[in-house]
Amino acid sequence: MRRPLVAGNWKMNGTRSSVAELTQGLVRQVLPESVDIAVFPSFIHVDLVRSALAGARVSVGAQDCAQESEAGALTGEVSSGQLYELGCEWVLVGHSERRLIVGEDDGVVSRKFAAALAGGLKPVLCLGETLEQRRSGKTLDVVLGQLCRVIEDHGVSVFNNAVIAYEPVWAIGSGLTATPEEAQEVHAAIRRCLANEDAAVAEITRLLYGGSVKAENAAELFAMADIDGGLVGGASLKADEFGAICRAAGN
Ligand code: PGA
Repeated sequence: MRRPLVAGNWKMNGTRSSVAELTQGLVRQVLPESVDIAVFPSFIHVDLVRSALAGARVSVGAQDCAQESEAGALTGEVSSGQLYELGCEWVLVGHSERRLIVGEDDGVVSRKFAAALAGGLKPVLCLGETLEQRRSGKTLDVVLGQLCRVIEDHGVSVFNNAVIAYEPVWAIGSGLTATPEEAQEVHAAIRRCLANEDAAVAEITRLLYGGSVKAENAAELFAMADIDGGLVGGASLKADEFGAICRAAGN
């Protein structure tokens, strides 16, 4: 059985005081023992969140890391090792906002994935198609293509220490959620692709769904056979709602 994971991506949100308030709200939640829970604040809030969550069952991740794992001359970037030292356990890699707005291609994402592992972090590899790609029937080509690049570069065994998040771009922040069946179809294809390389890795790798996950739709998404939790954006900024999503994953 794969242990569910619910991850809250706080994106570029929050001030020190609002982040402290959100974290305190999280500490007050009744969270299920059977679910792993993580939050991903901005770099500048990682330390604050980490300290405030000390003793809570919620781990902390970063939203990005540098493509080089060695310390050195890379102005403006933050390395996986630096994030590990701060107490991060996870890092998002290849979120669609970084692919599409910042311009990270599959090669950059693949290097960041390896750099994350080299620094001691567990990458959450984000995959997803745009609405145009879905409408033209290219969903599986796009999503599996993004996945294949990482497998080709590093081998499938890297997923012993990583998680995959399927996030259709058209569902992110839009209020449009993939139906549980639409999401399951892609998750099953991702798992088949892993299984073609290594059945044991496919069996243990957690596949999260992301894209307008809310308390009201979480349970039906998490009930699908290949959906092992969620990557939650907007709804993770409300402690009570995020708590309810975590509880849905525990049922
Ligand atoms: P959303 O974001 O839940 O606000 O749609 C999900 C994400 O981008 O990870």
